[in-house]
Amino acid sequence: MQIITLFPMSWKVLATRRLPGKWFDLLSKETQLEVWDGEEPPTKSWILDRIAEVDGVIVTLSDKVDREVIDAGRRLKVISTYSVGFDHIDVEYARRRGIRVTHTPDVLTDATADLIFGLILAVARRIVEGDRLIREGGWRKPWHPTFMLGTEVHGKILGILGMGRIGRALVKRASGFDMRVIYHSRKKHEEVQAEYVDLESLFSSSDFLTVTVDLNPSTRHMVSERLLRTMKRDSFLINASRGQVIDEKALVRALEEGWIRGAALDVFEVEPTGPENPLTKFKNVVMTPHLGSATWETRERMTEIAVKNLLACLKGERPLYEVPW
Ligand code: GLV
Repeated sequence: MQIITLFPMSWKVLATRRLPGKWFDLLSKETQLEVWDGEEPPTKSWILDRIAEVDGVIVTLSDKVDREVIDAGRRLKVISTYSVGFDHIDVEYARRRGIRVTHTPDVLTDATADLIFGLILAVARRIVEGDRLIREGGWRKPWHPTFMLGTEVHGKILGILGMGRIGRALVKRASGFDMRVIYHSRKKHEEVQAEYVDLESLFSSSDFLTVTVDLNPSTRHMVSERLLRTMKRDSFLINASRGQVIDEKALVRALEEGWIRGAALDVFEVEPTGPENPLTKFKNVVMTPHLGSATWETRERMTEIAVKNLLACLKGERPLYEVPW
């Protein structure tokens, strides 16, 4: 009798984190899986010591997959990243070596767009500041007509830099807030219910400017001092893409000198960041620690996609999401 196994036990897989959800258990049953179990990312030498032996690897955005790692992966067929972004991987070099690179878009779009709206509301209506005030015992006087006034969100102009999946999800949410939406991206998207404008007009017209471009050499420090200086004095900058898209030093100046009214950031030039970051000194800045996709539902869906992508590539099939060429 011939026994056919869908997932030959001969496949060796490395995962740089234990991922939530049943799909990761399946992967551990169907492959020889070695997992880094720490809270901190594994060291590069931990990866280098193992990668020569494996057919596939699941990484996260805090693992740098550079030429050294790729060269060491002598039998590697697939790099499956547990993220939509792939700026931590030398994709071009991997491809040249015949290694497929996959990622997990779509399933995290809504969670990230929800967080961006949360950031908009938090910074405009001073939600985090108010919470902190109460906890620190600063709410001493009863209700007052001009106490902690914020900025309205509904009816304002939402600017979107980059019109990908997350940009489109923001357009949908903005209609519930009666916002006018303008955007700038590499090309016009006729089907999107938003007005295409040039980069300069996006910065000078937006009340809430949200950054949703991916990080690549052309978007690094795209939000520059020059553009920040053109923003409205009562506008806000929101970023949940990659910190390096914004020139953070220029943003600090913008806040110090009042070029904009505030900022809400989920991502930073260097992560993790903490009290040493000058951005933490501003009351009108809301910061979250890279939480765009951080919901149980989304992270479990991301596990499913990362595992399916990996297994498809190992089987020589087309993965659900190969990173764009
Ligand atoms: C998160 O930042 C991701 O790229 O998935």
